[in-house]
Amino acid sequence: MKSYSIALMPGDGTGPEVLREGVKVLDAAGAAYGLTFNYTDYDFGGERYKRTGETLPDSAVAELAKHQAIFLGAIGHPDVKPGILELGILLKLRFALDQYINLRPVKLYPNVETPLKDKGPEHIDFVVIRENTGDIYTGMGGATMVGTQNEIATQVMLYSRPIVERCIRYAYDYTRKRNNPKKTLTLVHKCNVLTYVGDLWVRTHKEIGDAEYKDIKQDYNHVDACTMWMVKSPEFYDVIVTANLFGDIITDLGAMIQGGMGIAAGGNINPEGVSMFEPIGGSAPKYTGLNVINPLAAICAGGMMLETLGETAAANAIDKAVHDALASGKIKSLSAGKMGMGTTQVGDLIASMVK
Ligand code: IPM
Ligand code: MN
Repeated sequence: MKSYSIALMPGDGTGPEVLREGVKVLDAAGAAYGLTFNYTDYDFGGERYKRTGETLPDSAVAELAKHQAIFLGAIGHPDVKPGILELGILLKLRFALDQYINLRPVKLYPNVETPLKDKGPEHIDFVVIRENTGDIYTGMGGATMVGTQNEIATQVMLYSRPIVERCIRYAYDYTRKRNNPKKTLTLVHKCNVLTYVGDLWVRTHKEIGDAEYKDIKQDYNHVDACTMWMVKSPEFYDVIVTANLFGDIITDLGAMIQGGMGIAAGGNINPEGVSMFEPIGGSAPKYTGLNVINPLAAICAGGMMLETLGETAAANAIDKAVHDALASGKIKSLSAGKMGMGTTQVGDLIASMVK
């Protein structure tokens, strides 16, 4: 029997509740496909920070890196100033473990309400590959004359050829493997204004595509136009590759058109290292402990974890169980408190359907 060592970081708010259901479904998939998971719990998050003043010590990064994957609930606490936990835990791990891909599928399941008029599951099914280690997220920049009338601040949009290249190459490989009839990799940037950084992305996308991926169609959208097309004609997309900040923004839009944060999952992936999977919805503190939060995003994140670990059959089984459960109409809505059942019941339902 194949065994995986998984670090669990339940985190704050409803994080522990949704992660519990994610683990329940992983174990069900493991039972069906001959896999076992050995979990180790880590309590990093807002509560621990309040208690100890510590976000994520370097020793913890080394500890976490010993596992084969990290499964995260949510980080974010109403009593902690914005930025501290995000930078100190989430971004620190992305950078320290060089998780250079942020994989965010945008998929509308049956019976799920989308705000897009006249669009259904056949129209909304694409994947955003967000670069995850460069851009203004690197923190390069500075401020001077702070607090004066003439305050100056900069935050640098940093990219290097190697950082762009490894992301583009991953995106082409992913598009090839996904094998959608569209077979199209759309680069999203803003090269009409960002003439240096945008040009680096555009040339890399074209050069690598021309040389190594002749079977994949190349396409390009400016990021502003992309938000328009995501609403107007989402069926146009197969795989989108984009820079860190643009990816952050368009994937919130993506989450909304697929039915909301209750179903939006993400993977912070280092294809050669240790990856981290999370529901991207946040800690939703007001729903904590009420058994009303939707665990589907965490469950889907668990599926992505299996896919990334190479357990494709088990991953597909989770995706199919989510699909079939929603198709059955038993889950009334994806919104917290409106599902027609509790958090744990949704987990039980999906676990019972994983075959
Ligand atoms: C996300 C979040 C993070 C980001 C924040 C919490 C730092 O918005 O994962 O999309 O900007 O990447
Ligand atoms: Mn975001």
